[in-house]
This record gives sequence, C-alpha cells and structure tokens, in this order.
Amino acid sequence: MLGSLLFGLPLALFATFSQADITKDHDGRLQTAVILDTPTTGASTTPEGRAFLKLARLDGTTGSQIVEVKGNFSLAPYPDEAWNSWNATTDSLADSEIKYVSANSQRVGPDGRLWVVDSGSLEKFANSSKLISFNLTTNEVDRVYYLGNITTTDGSLNDVRFNGKYAYLTEYTIGSIIVLDLETGYARMVLREHKSTVALLPLSAEGHLLRDAATGEYDYTNADQLEVSPDGKYFYYQPGIGYMWRIGTKYLNEALHNDTMADLLPNYVEPFALTPSTGGTAIDAEGTIYYSDGDRQEIRTLAPNGTTTLLVRDSRLLWVDAMWIDTQQRLWMCASQLNRGTRFIQPDNQTMTIEKPIYVYTIETGHNPSPLDHA
Ligand SMILES: *[C@@H]1O[C@H](CO)[C@@H](O)[C@H](O)[C@H]1NC(C)=O
Ligand SMILES: *[C@@H]1O[C@H](CO)[C@@H](O)[C@H](O)[C@H]1NC(C)=O
Ligand SMILES: *[C@@H]1O[C@H](CO)[C@@H](O)[C@H](O)[C@H]1NC(C)=O
Ligand SMILES: *[C@@H]1O[C@H](CO)[C@@H](O)[C@H](O)[C@H]1NC(C)=O
Ligand SMILES: *[C@@H]1O[C@H](CO)[C@@H](O)[C@H](O)[C@H]1NC(C)=O
Ligand SMILES: *[C@@H]1O[C@H](CO)[C@@H](O)[C@H](O)[C@H]1NC(C)=O
Ligand SMILES: *[C@@H]1O[C@H](CO)[C@@H](O)[C@H](O)[C@H]1NC(C)=O
Ligand SMILES: *[C@@H]1O[C@H](CO)[C@@H](O)[C@H](O)[C@H]1NC(C)=O
Repeated sequence: MLGSLLFGLPLALFATFSQADITKDHDGRLQTAVILDTPTTGASTTPEGRAFLKLARLDGTTGSQIVEVKGNFSLAPYPDEAWNSWNATTDSLADSEIKYVSANSQRVGPDGRLWVVDSGSLEKFANSSKLISFNLTTNEVDRVYYLGNITTTDGSLNDVRFNGKYAYLTEYTIGSIIVLDLETGYARMVLREHKSTVALLPLSAEGHLLRDAATGEYDYTNADQLEVSPDGKYFYYQPGIGYMWRIGTKYLNEALHNDTMADLLPNYVEPFALTPSTGGTAIDAEGTIYYSDGDRQEIRTLAPNGTTTLLVRDSRLLWVDAMWIDTQQRLWMCASQLNRGTRFIQPDNQTMTIEKPIYVYTIETGHNPSPLDHA
C-alpha cells in the first residue's frame, strides 16, 4: 500500500542523511516525507495516504506540473501525461483549455476532489486561466471553471480555498481576490489593487529582496497566501511580502452578486497580523494559521487572537511554500528553495543556486486540519 509506504516510513531509512546533516540549527523533529530532484511548491494528501505535489520547475527543467507520489518516491503525472503536456509553441487555444498551462497550486478539497489552480498564459490563451477539479476515484476531470473573463489578460491566479459553495482565489499580478460560486461558475474580482491585496515591498528571502531574472526588476508578488477560518466566518489573506488582513466572508459572498457591496468591501477589511515575507500557509481545526518565514527559515503559528509563536526553526526549511496538515496531524513543508530558482537573479550571474535533492519534511503539530478545508 502506498499509504503505509508514505506514512509509515521508518525513521531508520533516513538515518544516513539525518546523521550526516545534523548541526546545531537542525531540529530533530523534522521527518522526511518525500525526496525528489525537482523543486516542489506544495503537497496535499488524502486520508487514505495518497500524496500529490506541484512541481515548480524553478530549476529550469521541463515536464509534469502536477504529480502523484508513488512507491519509492517515483512521481506519476496527474491525472495523466496529456494534462501535463503543455507546449506553448505548438499547442492551440483549445489545448490551453484541457492542459495545465502554468499550474500554480493544487490541493485536495473538503469534497475529496483534487483541485488545481492554473494561472494560464492569458495574453495568448484567453481561456487558460482556470480552476480544475478531479475525481480521485476515477482520476477524471470533474469540472473546469474558466476564469479568463475574470482575470483578464493582466491577472494571474495564485491559490484557492473553499467555504461551502464558495471558493476564494488570490490573484497576484494585478492584486485582487476572486470570489467564485462553485455551483453556478459565476465569479467576480473584488478588492482590486486595494492596499490589502497589493505588495508594499518585493519578496524577501535569506535576507535579500528578490529581483526577477527576466526583467531585472524587484519581484512584487501581490495577493498570495489565503486561509478561511474553520467556522467559515473569516477570510485571511496577504501579499507575498506579508502583512496579513482579514474580511468577513459574508461580505465577500454578498459582493458576488451585489455591486454596492463590492464597492463597500474595503470598509470591511481589517488588519490582522504583521507577518513577514511568506512562502506559504496552512490552517488547523482550531483556526491557528501556520506560516513560513522566507528570511529566517522558520515556521510560526498565528492564533485566532493574532499572537504568534515559533513552531520550528531549521536551516533546511528554505522557502517552504504552500503547507498542508494531514489527518495524522502532521504539517507538510516543501522546502522549495524558490528564491534560489531561475525566476530570480542569483549571485555571480548563476542561473540557479538550488541544492538537490529537494526535501519535503513533516513535523507533528498535535492538531487536525480544518474540516472546512479538507479531511
Ligand atoms: C523500492 O526500492 C527497493 C530497493 O531498491 C526495491 O526493492 C523495491 O521493490 C522498490 N519498491 C517499489 C514499490 O518500487
Ligand atoms: C515544444 O515543441 C517544439 C516543436 O516541436 C519543441 O522544439 C520543443 O522542445 C517543445 N517544448 C517542450 C517544452 O516540450
Ligand atoms: C473561451 O470559452 C468560452 C466558453 O466556453 C468560449 O465562448 C470562448 O470562445 C472561448 N474563448 C477562446 C479564446 O477560446
Ligand atoms: C467520483 O466518481 C465515482 C465513480 O463515478 C463516484 O461514485 C463518486 O461520487 C465521485 N466522487 C466525487 C467526489 O464526485
Ligand atoms: C465567465 O465565463 C464563464 C464561461 O467560460 C461563465 O460561466 C461565467 O458566467 C462568466 N463570468 C462572468 C462574470 O461573466
Ligand atoms: C447590497 O448591499 C448593500 C450594502 O450592504 C445593501 O444595502 C443592499 O440591500 C444589498 N442589495 C441587495 C439586493 O441585497
Ligand atoms: C492568544 O491565544 C494563544 C493561543 O491560544 C494563547 O496562548 C494566548 O494566551 C492568547 N493571548 C491573549 C492575549 O489572549
Ligand atoms: C554579470 O553579468 C553582467 C552582464 O553580463 C556583467 O556586467 C557582470 O560583470 C557579471 N557579474 C559577475 C559577477 O560575473
């Protein structure tokens, strides 16, 4: 069983690396869940023990974007090769509707489906911006929500969270939140270029502000991390550089069909916490948010009352992107080294400084995932 392979990995198997690597800034509570040779910016799991990864290709490699982890850490394209076969040179508009063009995140939803957010490539492929759900029993597409008419050519979808029949997505190039009715497929962009959705400073990691390798400009990543409180009442969100905000979900939901409310939304935004440059977040059943600190190789927790506490600091936790809490109360941390990837300018004109292999770690939290988020 894959479940027993992944979840029952004896520690002894990894004794070689942990012995070799232990230094004063390594925390013995970290366990290795997956080892791979391509950076990953997010893991998600099912209660039965299946695990999925988003491969970020920050190392300049090409290939599958969404994979399932099989025995011995072999990675299988999910759901198949076809979805993972995008080629911008040869593929058509029609292909862009049925392939991952630029998948940015994935997660198993509260409905047990696998959801993939595809930022697409909107200048050339109008319908490539989409949210896709897969039935994990049949491994077939359940539904595709095309959002190109909402993001327009300037917007890029980042990630998604669920709240009953609503989904909320962050959009990081304009800076906005997208509210989507999962039943009807109707969506709306809100809080466009509001101070809560726009980055004040560029991303920062290992003590440096990041510059985009293609343009040489600082990398401002607007609305990025997001979570919904377990009672469904609050939506938390922030730009990549941090400063977390929240808004009552009743206002977001009302704004979907009410222009007056959409205009009034800024009045309902509240500051929540002074978070740092963040790779990713997760939320537990108590409503505590876990966030990774891109500069300090830390994971901290943020309680619903806004107080923060250190969970773990370890030099191996280098740019932990989207996190995940599984049914065994473990926090999954993909140490993606994103800041060392091809997307950013590296020291001495190197194209990338990622050190392989790449590790996905877990740590016990003593807390269950939020049932509103996933099983
Ligand atoms: C995993 O690797 C071991 C050692 O190479 C091998 O004996 C075993 O058959 C492999 N298992 C799977 C599921 O591929
Ligand atoms: C896309 O197709 C072109 C033409 O066949 C090929 O040269 C190129 O290598 C392909 N790119 C990828 C990423 O597969
Ligand atoms: C996008 O999808 C819509 C609805 O399926 C369709 O009407 C439209 O022609 C598509 N646009 C492009 C550019 O493919
Ligand atoms: C997935 O497909 C199976 C087989 O058709 C079906 O029984 C099940 O309800 C589907 N699951 C979801 C979450 O839609
Ligand atoms: C956007 O297009 C989709 C179909 O591609 C449609 O279902 C949806 O209603 C449209 N949204 C708006 C706000 O027009
Ligand atoms: C739309 O929202 C405004 C502001 O909250 C409210 O006064 C108005 O009654 C709402 N309109 C409808 C049709 O519910
Ligand atoms: C905030 O919540 C944390 C975690 O539950 C608790 O330890 C702390 O005492 C609370 N602080 C205040 C000021 O209520
Ligand atoms: C990096 O490249 C630029 C432009 O080619 C060059 O001017 C500069 O000297 C290079 N720096 C190093 C450290 O190699």
